[in-house]
Amino acid sequence: MRAIHDKMSAGTTMARTAAPKVLFVASEIFPLAKTGGLADVCGALPQALAGRGIDVRMLMPGYTEALDRVVAAQVIADLGEILPGAPARIVSGWMPDSGLPVWLVDCPPLYRRRGSLYRDANGCDWPDNGLRFAVLNHAAARIASSGHVAGWCPDIVHAHDWHAGLLPLLLHRRGGERPKTVFTVHNMAFQGLFPLHEARALGLPPYAATLDGAEFYGRLSFLKAGIRFADVVTTVSRNYAREIGTPEFGCGMDGLIRARRGAVGIMNGIDEHVWNPATDDYLEQRYSRDNMLGKHACKVALQRQLGLDVDPAAPLAESVCRLTHQKMADVLLARLPDLLQRHPHLQMVVHGCGDAALEQGFTAMAAAFPGRMAAHIGYDESLAHRLHAGADILLHGARFEPCGLTQLYAMRYGAIPVVRRVGGLADSVIDVDVAGGEAAGFIGFVFDAPTGEALGAAVERCLAVYEGAPQTWVRFRRSAMSGDYGWQRSAAEYARVYAGVAPSLQGWDEVLEGYRDDALARAAS
Ligand code: ADP
Ligand code: GLC
Repeated sequence: MRAIHDKMSAGTTMARTAAPKVLFVASEIFPLAKTGGLADVCGALPQALAGRGIDVRMLMPGYTEALDRVVAAQVIADLGEILPGAPARIVSGWMPDSGLPVWLVDCPPLYRRRGSLYRDANGCDWPDNGLRFAVLNHAAARIASSGHVAGWCPDIVHAHDWHAGLLPLLLHRRGGERPKTVFTVHNMAFQGLFPLHEARALGLPPYAATLDGAEFYGRLSFLKAGIRFADVVTTVSRNYAREIGTPEFGCGMDGLIRARRGAVGIMNGIDEHVWNPATDDYLEQRYSRDNMLGKHACKVALQRQLGLDVDPAAPLAESVCRLTHQKMADVLLARLPDLLQRHPHLQMVVHGCGDAALEQGFTAMAAAFPGRMAAHIGYDESLAHRLHAGADILLHGARFEPCGLTQLYAMRYGAIPVVRRVGGLADSVIDVDVAGGEAAGFIGFVFDAPTGEALGAAVERCLAVYEGAPQTWVRFRRSAMSGDYGWQRSAAEYARVYAGVAPSLQGWDEVLEGYRDDALARAAS
Protein backbone atom coordinates (compact mmCIF):
# COMPACT_ATOMS: atom_id res chain seq x y z
CA MET A 1 0.00 0.00 0.00
CA ARG A 2 1.07 3.50 -0.68
CA ALA A 3 2.47 6.01 1.76
CA ILE A 4 -0.91 7.69 1.82
CA HIS A 5 -2.13 4.80 3.96
CA ASP A 6 0.16 5.88 6.81
CA LYS A 7 -0.74 9.47 6.25
CA MET A 8 -4.43 8.62 6.28
CA SER A 9 -4.23 6.48 9.38
CA ALA A 10 -2.77 9.49 11.11
CA GLY A 11 -5.33 11.70 9.37
CA THR A 12 -8.20 9.52 10.54
CA THR A 13 -7.06 9.76 14.15
CA MET A 14 -6.80 13.49 13.82
CA ALA A 15 -10.14 13.52 12.00
CA ARG A 16 -12.02 12.38 15.06
CA THR A 17 -11.27 15.69 16.66
CA ALA A 18 -10.92 18.20 13.88
CA ALA A 19 -10.86 17.22 10.23
CA PRO A 20 -13.89 17.86 8.02
CA LYS A 21 -15.71 14.60 7.33
CA VAL A 22 -16.99 13.79 3.86
CA LEU A 23 -19.05 10.75 2.89
CA PHE A 24 -18.42 9.92 -0.76
CA VAL A 25 -21.28 7.91 -2.27
CA ALA A 26 -21.02 6.29 -5.70
CA SER A 27 -22.08 3.15 -7.51
CA GLU A 28 -18.56 2.32 -8.67
CA ILE A 29 -15.14 3.07 -7.27
CA PHE A 30 -11.85 1.89 -8.78
CA PRO A 31 -10.34 -0.63 -8.07
CA LEU A 32 -13.30 -2.29 -6.33
CA ALA A 33 -15.70 -2.01 -9.28
CA LYS A 34 -15.54 -0.13 -12.57
CA THR A 35 -17.42 0.28 -15.82
CA GLY A 36 -16.15 3.74 -16.79
CA GLY A 37 -14.72 7.09 -15.77
CA LEU A 38 -17.01 7.48 -12.75
CA ALA A 39 -15.07 4.74 -10.98
CA ASP A 40 -11.72 6.32 -11.83
CA VAL A 41 -12.81 9.69 -10.43
CA CYS A 42 -14.33 8.20 -7.29
CA GLY A 43 -11.17 6.17 -6.68
CA ALA A 44 -8.71 9.01 -7.18
CA LEU A 45 -10.38 12.19 -5.91
CA PRO A 46 -10.77 10.90 -2.33
CA GLN A 47 -7.01 10.32 -2.21
CA ALA A 48 -6.35 13.93 -3.16
CA LEU A 49 -8.92 15.13 -0.62
CA ALA A 50 -7.41 12.91 2.07
CA GLY A 51 -4.05 14.45 1.19
CA ARG A 52 -5.54 17.81 2.19
CA GLY A 53 -6.49 16.42 5.58
CA ILE A 54 -10.14 15.71 4.86
CA ASP A 55 -11.55 12.57 6.51
CA VAL A 56 -13.17 10.87 3.51
CA ARG A 57 -15.11 7.63 3.74
CA MET A 58 -16.39 6.04 0.59
CA LEU A 59 -19.68 4.17 0.36
CA MET A 60 -20.71 1.90 -2.50
CA PRO A 61 -22.78 -1.24 -3.11
CA GLY A 62 -21.32 -4.53 -1.88
CA TYR A 63 -20.99 -6.14 -5.30
CA THR A 64 -19.33 -9.57 -5.19
CA GLU A 65 -16.16 -8.27 -6.86
CA ALA A 66 -15.96 -5.33 -4.44
CA LEU A 67 -16.32 -7.59 -1.39
CA ASP A 68 -13.62 -9.85 -2.85
CA ARG A 69 -11.18 -7.00 -3.40
CA VAL A 70 -11.64 -4.86 -0.30
CA VAL A 71 -8.97 -5.33 2.37
CA ALA A 72 -9.78 -6.54 5.91
CA ALA A 73 -13.54 -6.50 5.47
CA GLN A 74 -15.65 -6.67 8.61
CA VAL A 75 -19.32 -6.07 9.34
CA ILE A 76 -19.72 -2.96 11.48
CA ALA A 77 -23.47 -2.36 11.39
CA ASP A 78 -26.71 -4.16 10.66
CA LEU A 79 -29.25 -1.78 9.12
CA GLY A 80 -32.04 -4.39 9.13
CA GLU A 81 -34.54 -4.51 6.25
CA ILE A 82 -33.81 -1.05 4.91
CA LEU A 83 -36.54 -1.39 2.25
CA PRO A 84 -38.89 -4.39 1.85
CA GLY A 85 -36.86 -7.38 0.63
CA ALA A 86 -33.56 -5.59 1.18
CA PRO A 87 -31.75 -6.57 4.38
CA ALA A 88 -28.55 -4.51 4.52
CA ARG A 89 -25.36 -4.47 6.55
CA ILE A 90 -22.40 -2.14 6.41
CA VAL A 91 -19.08 -3.85 5.73
CA SER A 92 -16.06 -1.74 6.52
CA GLY A 93 -12.66 -2.22 4.89
CA TRP A 94 -9.75 -0.49 3.18
CA MET A 95 -9.06 0.27 -0.43
CA PRO A 96 -6.44 -2.16 -1.76
CA ASP A 97 -4.35 0.55 -3.44
CA SER A 98 -4.64 3.74 -1.40
CA GLY A 99 -5.55 2.24 1.95
CA LEU A 100 -8.38 4.72 2.41
CA PRO A 101 -11.43 3.59 4.38
CA VAL A 102 -14.40 2.30 2.40
CA TRP A 103 -17.83 1.07 3.45
CA LEU A 104 -19.86 -1.38 1.39
CA VAL A 105 -23.61 -1.81 1.58
CA ASP A 106 -23.92 -5.56 1.79
CA CYS A 107 -27.32 -6.65 0.51
CA PRO A 108 -26.83 -10.07 -1.15
CA PRO A 109 -30.21 -10.29 -2.96
CA LEU A 110 -29.49 -6.99 -4.74
CA TYR A 111 -25.76 -6.83 -5.31
CA ARG A 112 -24.26 -10.30 -5.34
CA ARG A 113 -25.21 -11.27 -8.86
CA ARG A 114 -23.64 -12.62 -12.03
CA GLY A 115 -23.62 -9.98 -14.77
CA SER A 116 -22.35 -6.43 -14.78
CA LEU A 117 -23.00 -3.71 -12.23
CA TYR A 118 -26.11 -2.46 -14.00
CA ARG A 119 -27.04 -5.22 -16.40
CA ASP A 120 -27.68 -8.95 -16.56
CA ALA A 121 -25.67 -11.39 -18.62
CA ASN A 122 -27.84 -10.60 -21.69
CA GLY A 123 -27.04 -6.90 -21.48
CA CYS A 124 -30.50 -5.86 -20.18
CA ASP A 125 -30.75 -3.46 -17.25
CA TRP A 126 -31.54 -5.29 -14.01
CA PRO A 127 -35.32 -4.84 -13.66
CA ASP A 128 -34.93 -3.80 -10.00
CA ASN A 129 -32.23 -1.14 -10.51
CA GLY A 130 -34.55 1.38 -8.82
CA LEU A 131 -34.57 -0.69 -5.65
CA ARG A 132 -30.88 -1.58 -5.91
CA PHE A 133 -29.77 2.04 -5.89
CA ALA A 134 -32.53 3.32 -3.59
CA VAL A 135 -31.02 0.99 -0.98
CA LEU A 136 -27.60 2.58 -1.46
CA ASN A 137 -29.17 6.01 -0.85
CA HIS A 138 -31.14 4.94 2.23
CA ALA A 139 -28.03 3.31 3.71
CA ALA A 140 -26.08 6.52 3.12
CA ALA A 141 -28.86 8.58 4.69
CA ARG A 142 -28.69 6.40 7.81
CA ILE A 143 -24.94 6.91 8.05
CA ALA A 144 -25.51 10.62 7.66
CA SER A 145 -27.86 10.70 10.61
CA SER A 146 -25.84 11.54 13.64
CA GLY A 147 -23.26 8.88 14.24
CA HIS A 148 -25.62 6.02 13.43
CA VAL A 149 -22.78 3.90 12.05
CA ALA A 150 -19.47 3.59 13.90
CA GLY A 151 -20.12 6.90 15.64
CA TRP A 152 -19.04 8.75 12.49
CA CYS A 153 -21.21 11.51 11.03
CA PRO A 154 -20.22 13.45 7.93
CA ASP A 155 -20.25 17.25 7.60
CA ILE A 156 -20.75 16.80 3.86
CA VAL A 157 -22.30 14.08 1.80
CA HIS A 158 -20.85 14.04 -1.70
CA ALA A 159 -23.15 12.04 -3.99
CA HIS A 160 -22.17 11.05 -7.53
CA ASP A 161 -24.43 10.59 -10.56
CA TRP A 162 -28.00 9.29 -10.64
CA HIS A 163 -27.26 6.20 -8.54
CA ALA A 164 -26.80 8.48 -5.53
CA GLY A 165 -29.30 11.15 -6.61
CA LEU A 166 -31.97 10.32 -4.03
CA LEU A 167 -29.62 11.16 -1.19
CA PRO A 168 -29.96 14.97 -1.42
CA LEU A 169 -33.74 14.51 -1.45
CA LEU A 170 -33.69 12.19 1.58
CA LEU A 171 -31.50 14.58 3.57
CA HIS A 172 -33.35 17.70 2.42
CA ARG A 173 -36.57 16.26 3.78
CA ARG A 174 -34.92 15.85 7.15
CA GLY A 175 -34.39 19.60 7.54
CA GLY A 176 -32.73 21.08 10.65
CA GLU A 177 -29.15 20.14 11.45
CA ARG A 178 -28.01 17.80 8.73
CA PRO A 179 -24.94 17.21 6.63
CA LYS A 180 -24.77 19.45 3.58
CA THR A 181 -25.07 17.79 0.19
CA VAL A 182 -22.88 18.14 -2.89
CA PHE A 183 -24.13 16.34 -5.99
CA THR A 184 -21.79 15.79 -8.93
CA VAL A 185 -23.26 15.15 -12.36
CA HIS A 186 -20.88 12.98 -14.37
CA ASN A 187 -23.28 12.54 -17.27
CA MET A 188 -26.67 14.22 -17.84
CA ALA A 189 -27.67 11.50 -20.29
CA PHE A 190 -27.96 8.85 -17.59
CA GLN A 191 -30.97 9.95 -15.59
CA GLY A 192 -32.03 6.96 -13.49
CA LEU A 193 -35.62 6.81 -14.77
CA PHE A 194 -38.18 4.50 -13.16
CA PRO A 195 -41.99 4.20 -13.07
CA LEU A 196 -43.42 6.97 -10.93
CA HIS A 197 -45.60 4.55 -9.00
CA GLU A 198 -42.43 2.90 -7.60
CA ALA A 199 -41.63 6.01 -5.56
CA ARG A 200 -43.47 4.81 -2.49
CA ALA A 201 -41.92 1.34 -2.53
CA LEU A 202 -38.53 3.05 -2.80
CA GLY A 203 -39.19 4.76 0.52
CA LEU A 204 -39.73 8.25 -0.89
CA PRO A 205 -42.10 10.89 0.46
CA PRO A 206 -45.18 11.78 -1.66
CA TYR A 207 -43.70 15.04 -2.95
CA ALA A 208 -40.90 13.05 -4.63
CA ALA A 209 -43.43 12.04 -7.28
CA THR A 210 -44.43 15.63 -8.08
CA LEU A 211 -43.10 18.11 -10.64
CA ASP A 212 -41.42 20.07 -7.87
CA GLY A 213 -39.85 16.83 -6.66
CA ALA A 214 -38.25 14.15 -8.82
CA GLU A 215 -40.96 13.65 -11.43
CA PHE A 216 -39.58 13.93 -14.95
CA TYR A 217 -41.94 13.59 -17.91
CA GLY A 218 -44.15 11.09 -16.11
CA ARG A 219 -41.34 9.10 -14.58
CA LEU A 220 -39.26 9.23 -11.43
CA SER A 221 -35.71 10.49 -12.04
CA PHE A 222 -32.95 9.89 -9.49
CA LEU A 223 -30.82 12.43 -11.38
CA LYS A 224 -33.46 15.12 -11.08
CA ALA A 225 -33.75 14.41 -7.34
CA GLY A 226 -30.03 15.08 -6.98
CA ILE A 227 -30.05 18.26 -9.03
CA ARG A 228 -33.22 19.58 -7.45
CA PHE A 229 -32.36 19.00 -3.79
CA ALA A 230 -28.58 19.17 -3.42
CA ASP A 231 -27.11 22.18 -1.65
CA VAL A 232 -24.54 22.45 -4.44
CA VAL A 233 -24.45 20.81 -7.86
CA THR A 234 -21.11 20.34 -9.57
CA THR A 235 -20.09 18.76 -12.83
CA VAL A 236 -16.84 17.49 -14.22
CA SER A 237 -15.56 20.31 -16.43
CA ARG A 238 -16.21 24.02 -16.78
CA ASN A 239 -17.35 23.76 -20.36
CA TYR A 240 -19.85 21.00 -19.56
CA ALA A 241 -21.14 23.15 -16.69
CA ARG A 242 -21.94 25.80 -19.30
CA GLU A 243 -23.32 23.29 -21.79
CA ILE A 244 -25.81 21.60 -19.45
CA GLY A 245 -27.60 24.91 -19.01
CA THR A 246 -28.54 24.75 -22.71
CA PRO A 247 -31.24 22.68 -24.43
CA GLU A 248 -28.62 21.10 -26.70
CA PHE A 249 -26.77 19.37 -23.85
CA GLY A 250 -29.17 19.58 -20.89
CA CYS A 251 -31.06 16.38 -21.79
CA GLY A 252 -34.30 18.06 -20.68
CA MET A 253 -32.86 19.23 -17.35
CA ASP A 254 -31.26 22.46 -18.58
CA GLY A 255 -34.16 24.49 -17.12
CA LEU A 256 -33.55 22.91 -13.74
CA ILE A 257 -29.85 23.73 -13.97
CA ARG A 258 -30.60 27.33 -14.95
CA ALA A 259 -33.17 27.62 -12.14
CA ARG A 260 -30.42 26.92 -9.63
CA ARG A 261 -28.09 29.36 -11.36
CA GLY A 262 -25.93 26.67 -12.83
CA ALA A 263 -23.56 23.96 -11.73
CA VAL A 264 -19.98 24.45 -10.57
CA GLY A 265 -17.60 23.03 -13.18
CA ILE A 266 -14.51 21.29 -11.81
CA MET A 267 -12.24 19.50 -14.24
CA ASN A 268 -11.43 15.85 -13.53
CA GLY A 269 -7.88 14.80 -12.90
CA ILE A 270 -6.25 11.39 -13.20
CA ASP A 271 -4.67 9.03 -10.70
CA GLU A 272 -1.03 9.67 -11.48
CA HIS A 273 0.07 6.49 -9.73
CA VAL A 274 -2.20 4.19 -11.69
CA TRP A 275 -1.61 5.95 -15.03
CA ASN A 276 2.14 6.46 -15.20
CA PRO A 277 4.22 4.95 -18.02
CA ALA A 278 7.32 5.12 -15.81
CA THR A 279 5.87 2.69 -13.24
CA ASP A 280 3.09 0.87 -15.10
CA ASP A 281 3.30 -2.91 -14.52
CA TYR A 282 1.04 -3.66 -17.48
CA LEU A 283 3.59 -2.41 -20.02
CA GLU A 284 6.10 -4.45 -22.00
CA GLN A 285 8.71 -1.88 -21.03
CA ARG A 286 8.34 1.26 -18.94
CA TYR A 287 9.32 4.67 -20.24
CA SER A 288 9.21 8.36 -19.50
CA ARG A 289 9.39 11.67 -21.31
CA ASP A 290 13.17 11.59 -21.03
CA ASN A 291 13.62 7.98 -22.04
CA MET A 292 11.23 6.96 -24.78
CA LEU A 293 12.83 3.65 -25.80
CA GLY A 294 10.19 1.77 -23.85
CA LYS A 295 7.37 3.29 -25.88
CA HIS A 296 8.93 1.86 -29.00
CA ALA A 297 9.04 -1.60 -27.36
CA CYS A 298 5.41 -1.24 -26.27
CA LYS A 299 4.36 -0.43 -29.83
CA VAL A 300 6.08 -3.46 -31.32
CA ALA A 301 4.69 -5.73 -28.59
CA LEU A 302 1.19 -4.41 -29.26
CA GLN A 303 1.47 -4.92 -33.01
CA ARG A 304 2.59 -8.51 -32.41
CA GLN A 305 -0.08 -9.22 -29.85
CA LEU A 306 -2.93 -7.83 -31.96
CA GLY A 307 -1.80 -9.35 -35.27
CA LEU A 308 -0.88 -6.02 -36.87
CA ASP A 309 2.06 -5.74 -39.25
CA VAL A 310 5.15 -5.17 -37.14
CA ASP A 311 6.26 -1.76 -38.33
CA PRO A 312 7.61 0.65 -35.72
CA ALA A 313 7.37 3.57 -38.17
CA ALA A 314 3.68 3.11 -39.02
CA PRO A 315 1.32 5.60 -37.41
CA LEU A 316 -0.69 3.55 -34.93
CA ALA A 317 -4.04 5.02 -33.88
CA GLU A 318 -6.20 3.74 -31.04
CA SER A 319 -9.70 4.24 -29.76
CA VAL A 320 -10.57 3.05 -26.23
CA CYS A 321 -14.13 3.79 -25.25
CA ARG A 322 -17.68 2.61 -24.91
CA LEU A 323 -18.84 1.89 -28.47
CA THR A 324 -21.86 4.17 -28.35
CA HIS A 325 -23.56 7.12 -29.99
CA GLN A 326 -22.11 9.45 -27.30
CA LYS A 327 -18.57 8.57 -28.37
CA MET A 328 -19.30 9.00 -32.11
CA ALA A 329 -18.31 5.36 -32.61
CA ASP A 330 -20.75 5.17 -35.55
CA VAL A 331 -18.99 8.10 -37.23
CA LEU A 332 -15.56 6.56 -36.68
CA LEU A 333 -16.78 3.25 -38.10
CA ALA A 334 -18.11 4.96 -41.22
CA ARG A 335 -14.94 7.02 -41.75
CA LEU A 336 -12.27 4.42 -41.08
CA PRO A 337 -12.24 2.64 -44.48
CA ASP A 338 -11.51 5.92 -46.24
CA LEU A 339 -8.71 6.80 -43.82
CA LEU A 340 -7.15 3.33 -44.05
CA GLN A 341 -7.32 3.42 -47.85
CA ARG A 342 -5.81 6.89 -48.16
CA HIS A 343 -2.97 6.14 -45.74
CA PRO A 344 -1.47 2.76 -46.57
CA HIS A 345 0.73 2.74 -43.44
CA LEU A 346 -1.95 3.78 -40.97
CA GLN A 347 -2.86 1.16 -38.36
CA MET A 348 -5.92 1.26 -36.12
CA VAL A 349 -6.96 -0.54 -32.95
CA VAL A 350 -10.46 -0.23 -31.53
CA HIS A 351 -10.94 -1.47 -27.98
CA GLY A 352 -14.33 -1.28 -26.38
CA CYS A 353 -17.78 -2.67 -25.95
CA GLY A 354 -21.27 -1.27 -26.29
CA ASP A 355 -23.84 -1.32 -29.08
CA ALA A 356 -23.93 -4.76 -30.68
CA ALA A 357 -24.17 -3.40 -34.23
CA LEU A 358 -21.07 -1.24 -33.72
CA GLU A 359 -19.16 -4.12 -32.14
CA GLN A 360 -19.96 -6.24 -35.19
CA GLY A 361 -19.10 -3.40 -37.57
CA PHE A 362 -15.62 -2.90 -36.11
CA THR A 363 -15.00 -6.65 -36.03
CA ALA A 364 -15.95 -6.91 -39.72
CA MET A 365 -13.73 -3.99 -40.60
CA ALA A 366 -10.76 -5.59 -38.86
CA ALA A 367 -11.31 -8.66 -41.00
CA ALA A 368 -11.38 -6.47 -44.11
CA PHE A 369 -8.01 -4.84 -43.25
CA PRO A 370 -5.82 -7.69 -41.99
CA GLY A 371 -2.53 -6.55 -40.50
CA ARG A 372 -3.75 -2.94 -40.37
CA MET A 373 -6.73 -2.94 -38.13
CA ALA A 374 -7.62 -4.80 -34.94
CA ALA A 375 -10.88 -4.73 -33.01
CA HIS A 376 -10.84 -5.97 -29.44
CA ILE A 377 -14.42 -6.19 -28.24
CA GLY A 378 -14.66 -6.48 -24.49
CA TYR A 379 -13.53 -4.83 -21.31
CA ASP A 380 -9.85 -5.19 -20.40
CA GLU A 381 -8.17 -2.70 -18.11
CA SER A 382 -4.63 -3.81 -18.90
CA LEU A 383 -5.17 -3.51 -22.65
CA ALA A 384 -6.29 0.11 -22.18
CA HIS A 385 -2.91 0.86 -20.55
CA ARG A 386 -0.95 -1.03 -23.21
CA LEU A 387 -2.81 0.73 -26.00
CA HIS A 388 -2.03 4.23 -24.75
CA ALA A 389 1.60 3.12 -24.40
CA GLY A 390 1.86 1.51 -27.83
CA ALA A 391 -0.19 3.99 -29.86
CA ASP A 392 0.89 7.26 -31.43
CA ILE A 393 -2.58 8.77 -31.81
CA LEU A 394 -5.86 8.59 -29.88
CA LEU A 395 -9.04 9.06 -31.93
CA HIS A 396 -11.78 10.27 -29.61
CA GLY A 397 -14.87 11.79 -31.11
CA ALA A 398 -17.86 12.63 -28.94
CA ARG A 399 -21.31 14.10 -29.47
CA PHE A 400 -21.10 15.17 -25.85
CA GLU A 401 -18.41 14.49 -23.25
CA PRO A 402 -18.82 15.74 -19.70
CA CYS A 403 -15.08 15.47 -19.12
CA GLY A 404 -13.41 12.41 -20.61
CA LEU A 405 -10.40 10.79 -18.99
CA THR A 406 -9.11 8.80 -21.95
CA GLN A 407 -7.58 11.83 -23.63
CA LEU A 408 -5.72 12.65 -20.39
CA TYR A 409 -4.37 9.10 -20.10
CA ALA A 410 -3.34 9.14 -23.77
CA MET A 411 -1.43 12.43 -23.43
CA ARG A 412 0.38 11.18 -20.34
CA TYR A 413 1.45 8.10 -22.29
CA GLY A 414 2.59 10.13 -25.32
CA ALA A 415 -0.34 9.33 -27.65
CA ILE A 416 -1.56 12.56 -29.24
CA PRO A 417 -5.34 12.96 -29.06
CA VAL A 418 -7.60 13.90 -31.95
CA VAL A 419 -10.77 15.08 -30.25
CA ARG A 420 -13.95 17.03 -30.84
CA ARG A 421 -14.21 20.49 -29.26
CA VAL A 422 -17.02 19.65 -26.84
CA GLY A 423 -17.51 19.32 -23.08
CA GLY A 424 -14.38 18.53 -21.11
CA LEU A 425 -12.48 17.63 -24.28
CA ALA A 426 -12.56 21.32 -25.21
CA ASP A 427 -11.16 22.25 -21.79
CA SER A 428 -8.41 19.66 -21.78
CA VAL A 429 -7.09 19.56 -25.35
CA ILE A 430 -5.85 22.74 -27.03
CA ASP A 431 -5.22 22.46 -30.74
CA VAL A 432 -1.51 22.31 -31.57
CA ASP A 433 -1.92 25.30 -33.89
CA VAL A 434 -3.04 27.39 -30.93
CA ALA A 435 -0.94 25.84 -28.17
CA GLY A 436 2.35 25.54 -30.03
CA GLY A 437 4.83 22.75 -29.50
CA GLU A 438 6.24 24.03 -26.22
CA ALA A 439 2.96 23.79 -24.30
CA ALA A 440 3.03 21.94 -20.99
CA GLY A 441 0.54 19.28 -21.90
CA PHE A 442 -3.09 19.47 -22.93
CA ILE A 443 -2.38 19.46 -26.68
CA GLY A 444 -3.75 17.61 -29.67
CA PHE A 445 -5.73 18.02 -32.86
CA VAL A 446 -9.21 19.43 -32.37
CA PHE A 447 -12.23 19.45 -34.69
CA ASP A 448 -15.67 21.02 -34.35
CA ALA A 449 -18.49 19.30 -36.19
CA PRO A 450 -19.67 15.82 -35.10
CA THR A 451 -19.13 14.52 -38.63
CA GLY A 452 -16.89 12.10 -40.46
CA GLU A 453 -15.59 14.95 -42.62
CA ALA A 454 -14.44 16.98 -39.63
CA LEU A 455 -12.94 13.94 -37.91
CA GLY A 456 -11.22 12.94 -41.14
CA ALA A 457 -9.76 16.41 -41.71
CA ALA A 458 -8.29 16.46 -38.18
CA VAL A 459 -6.77 13.02 -38.72
CA GLU A 460 -5.25 14.29 -42.00
CA ARG A 461 -3.66 17.23 -40.16
CA CYS A 462 -2.34 14.87 -37.53
CA LEU A 463 -0.88 12.39 -40.04
CA ALA A 464 0.70 15.22 -42.01
CA VAL A 465 2.81 16.04 -38.94
CA TYR A 466 3.49 12.40 -38.02
CA GLU A 467 4.58 11.45 -41.53
CA GLY A 468 5.97 14.76 -42.77
CA ALA A 469 7.53 16.46 -39.76
CA PRO A 470 8.89 13.86 -37.33
CA GLN A 471 10.84 16.43 -35.27
CA THR A 472 7.66 18.40 -34.68
CA TRP A 473 5.86 15.20 -33.72
CA VAL A 474 8.52 14.42 -31.11
CA ARG A 475 8.09 17.93 -29.73
CA PHE A 476 4.29 17.56 -29.55
CA ARG A 477 4.64 14.21 -27.85
CA ARG A 478 7.05 15.59 -25.30
CA SER A 479 4.66 18.46 -24.63
CA ALA A 480 1.71 16.11 -24.20
CA MET A 481 3.68 14.07 -21.67
CA SER A 482 4.61 17.19 -19.70
CA GLY A 483 1.10 18.08 -18.56
CA ASP A 484 0.00 18.18 -14.95
CA TYR A 485 -3.06 15.97 -15.18
CA GLY A 486 -3.23 15.17 -11.47
CA TRP A 487 -5.95 15.97 -8.96
CA GLN A 488 -4.28 18.62 -6.82
CA ARG A 489 -5.82 21.71 -8.33
CA SER A 490 -9.30 20.23 -8.71
CA ALA A 491 -9.27 18.72 -5.22
CA ALA A 492 -8.61 22.22 -3.92
CA GLU A 493 -11.64 23.44 -5.85
CA TYR A 494 -13.81 20.73 -4.30
CA ALA A 495 -12.46 21.70 -0.88
CA ARG A 496 -13.57 25.25 -1.56
CA VAL A 497 -17.03 24.02 -2.52
CA TYR A 498 -17.21 22.02 0.73
CA ALA A 499 -16.09 25.01 2.77
CA GLY A 500 -18.59 27.25 0.98
CA VAL A 501 -21.54 25.00 1.77
CA ALA A 502 -20.73 23.86 5.30
CA PRO A 503 -20.16 26.77 7.66
CA SER A 504 -18.43 24.44 10.12
CA LEU A 505 -15.62 24.03 7.57
CA GLN A 506 -14.95 27.68 7.05
CA GLY A 507 -11.64 28.69 8.47
CA TRP A 508 -10.43 25.10 8.35
CA ASP A 509 -7.16 26.31 6.98
CA GLU A 510 -5.55 23.11 5.80
CA VAL A 511 -8.45 22.44 3.45
CA LEU A 512 -8.31 25.87 1.93
CA GLU A 513 -4.58 26.37 1.96
CA GLY A 514 -3.90 24.81 -1.44
CA TYR A 515 -6.81 26.63 -2.95
CA ARG A 516 -5.42 29.97 -1.86
CA ASP A 517 -2.08 28.97 -3.36
CA ASP A 518 -3.76 28.01 -6.59
CA ALA A 519 -5.79 31.19 -6.68
CA LEU A 520 -2.64 33.22 -6.15
CA ALA A 521 -0.83 31.31 -8.86
CA ARG A 522 -3.70 31.89 -11.25
CA ALA A 523 -3.86 35.56 -10.40
CA ALA A 524 -0.12 35.87 -10.98
CA SER A 525 -0.17 34.10 -14.35
P1 ADP B 1 -16.87 7.35 -19.84
O1 ADP B 1 -16.88 7.32 -18.37
O2 ADP B 1 -17.88 8.26 -20.45
O3 ADP B 1 -16.92 5.99 -20.45
P2 ADP B 1 -14.14 8.40 -19.57
O4 ADP B 1 -13.16 8.77 -20.62
O5 ADP B 1 -14.37 9.36 -18.49
O6 ADP B 1 -15.48 8.00 -20.33
O7 ADP B 1 -13.67 7.07 -18.84
C1 ADP B 1 -13.62 5.85 -19.47
C2 ADP B 1 -12.85 4.89 -18.58
O8 ADP B 1 -13.23 3.56 -18.92
C3 ADP B 1 -11.35 4.97 -18.78
O9 ADP B 1 -10.70 4.55 -17.59
C4 ADP B 1 -11.12 3.95 -19.89
O10 ADP B 1 -9.81 3.45 -19.91
C5 ADP B 1 -12.10 2.89 -19.48
N1 ADP B 1 -12.56 2.03 -20.56
C6 ADP B 1 -13.48 2.31 -21.51
N2 ADP B 1 -13.67 1.24 -22.29
C7 ADP B 1 -12.85 0.27 -21.83
C8 ADP B 1 -12.60 -1.08 -22.21
N3 ADP B 1 -13.24 -1.67 -23.21
N4 ADP B 1 -11.69 -1.78 -21.49
C9 ADP B 1 -11.04 -1.20 -20.45
N5 ADP B 1 -11.24 0.05 -20.05
C10 ADP B 1 -12.14 0.78 -20.73
C1 GLC C 1 -18.91 10.11 -17.28
C2 GLC C 1 -18.64 10.94 -18.50
C3 GLC C 1 -17.18 11.21 -18.75
C4 GLC C 1 -16.48 11.59 -17.46
C5 GLC C 1 -16.72 10.53 -16.42
C6 GLC C 1 -16.04 10.84 -15.09
O1 GLC C 1 -18.89 8.76 -17.52
O2 GLC C 1 -19.22 10.37 -19.66
O3 GLC C 1 -17.03 12.26 -19.69
O4 GLC C 1 -15.09 11.72 -17.69
O5 GLC C 1 -18.09 10.42 -16.16
O6 GLC C 1 -16.45 12.07 -14.57
